[in-house]
Amino acid sequence: MHRTMYWILIVLGALPVHVTSLDNGLALTPPMGWLTWERFRCNTDCVNDPDNCISEKLIMQMADAMASQGYKDAGYEYVIIDDCWLARQRDAKGNLQPDPERFPHGIKYLADYVHSKGLKFGIYEDFGSETCGGFPGSEFHMKQDAYTFAAWGIDYLKFDGCFSDVRDMPIGYAAMGHFLNKTGRPIVYSCEWPLYQAFKGIKPDYAAIKETCNLWRNYGDIQDSWASMIGTVNYYGQDVDNFTQYAGPGGWNDPDMASDYSLSYVEERVQMAMWCIMASPLIMSNDLRNIRNVSKALLQNRNLIRINQDPLGKQGAMITKNGQISIWTKPLSTGGIVVACLNQGDDGRPRKIKFTLNEIGLTKQNGYNISDAFTMRYMTVAKPNSNIVMAIDPHGVQMILAMPLRKRK
Ligand SMILES: *[C@@H]1O[C@H](CO)[C@@H](O)[C@H](O)[C@H]1NC(C)=O
Ligand SMILES: *[C@@H]1O[C@H](CO)[C@@H](O)[C@H](O)[C@H]1NC(C)=O
Ligand SMILES: *[C@@H]1O[C@H](CO)[C@@H](O)[C@H](O)[C@H]1NC(C)=O
Ligand SMILES: *[C@@H]1O[C@H](CO)[C@@H](O)[C@H](O)[C@H]1NC(C)=O
Repeated sequence: MHRTMYWILIVLGALPVHVTSLDNGLALTPPMGWLTWERFRCNTDCVNDPDNCISEKLIMQMADAMASQGYKDAGYEYVIIDDCWLARQRDAKGNLQPDPERFPHGIKYLADYVHSKGLKFGIYEDFGSETCGGFPGSEFHMKQDAYTFAAWGIDYLKFDGCFSDVRDMPIGYAAMGHFLNKTGRPIVYSCEWPLYQAFKGIKPDYAAIKETCNLWRNYGDIQDSWASMIGTVNYYGQDVDNFTQYAGPGGWNDPDMASDYSLSYVEERVQMAMWCIMASPLIMSNDLRNIRNVSKALLQNRNLIRINQDPLGKQGAMITKNGQISIWTKPLSTGGIVVACLNQGDDGRPRKIKFTLNEIGLTKQNGYNISDAFTMRYMTVAKPNSNIVMAIDPHGVQMILAMPLRKRK
């Protein structure tokens, strides 16, 4: 049977009509957590690399670190395994099963362990015939797999799009969402549908995507490098296909994981600042057993996390870009506005920038109380027409919070 026909048959009479947004009560602020992929990839070699292979041991150690090293208290919640957890075959009944050597106690055991730490547990599958790593995909098994995930106690599903026809994605992703809902278990639904469509030159239907998914990838996989990270930021700045406006409580644009190692500390500040101003899911992919203290403090910076998790859920946008310097703003539920100034020049030069608040849309005549958004240290009071001058490190960012001042009585 042609795949599209199959989707139509399973979906007819099954999907609810007139759904306006995914209503599973989840991801009301951008999800926060940790994911294996960018750091640990598809490392299945537990013989030669037992500490870094995709295995229950790795996941349990990361859950331990999340709970004991302050990440959980800072808001990080989901521990998620990406690709390469599966056995090469389904079992005799067609059920998914994990690799028996790397996950000897099974997935339910692992989910229970993560839950015992007060955390939530996520897993990965693929909407096509195989996962990107060549393990069994969910095609023709979506209902069965959704119920398997619910029975295991899964709280978050990352659903990839390898080995599929992008034309099937609107119906196929909706079908999986439907089955997840029918299990009765609230499961965050992370989709890669717009990314695959954009690669094929198809304009993603973000309204439909928001009805179906809690978060969705717009752009290619991020790598642990400045070029990859800043390329992703620039794609968001261009707001290709106008996707920024679709972010909000329940549904988020996902620029992919936050890393360490390859970025300098100054560059890590850029990533954290931009992920917060873009209301991006804060999903780390790093080795929490071995991380620089400054990186850890940055990932746990409460002032930044508060910006990321602001309940208004507005995704910040790029307001201007002049050469290597761009200015971004994000409105908060408190009435404050976060302003980030980013120097992406590769020439190693610090740059100075001068602008007025008026020029970036902050026009309240009483003026604004300006603080450093990283530290919340008071900086100055500025009227809409006063000059703001900032020095920005190479590959660096300055981020301020502007709070409108009340009229004096
Ligand atoms: C399933 O969808 C209905 C209707 O949108 C919603 O009210 C309910 O909370 C959803 N349940 C789960 C488990 O996602
Ligand atoms: C994005 O929005 C702008 C302004 O509303 C509009 O002019 C433009 O055509 C839109 N672009 C796309 C790709 O939808
Ligand atoms: C990092 O933090 C730990 C725990 O707070 C401390 O023991 C250690 O000395 C710090 N390391 C460095 C290099 O500052
Ligand atoms: C300005 O902001 C700082 C930091 O949040 C705060 O301590 C201070 O009280 C504020 N001042 C005014 C006049 O609002």
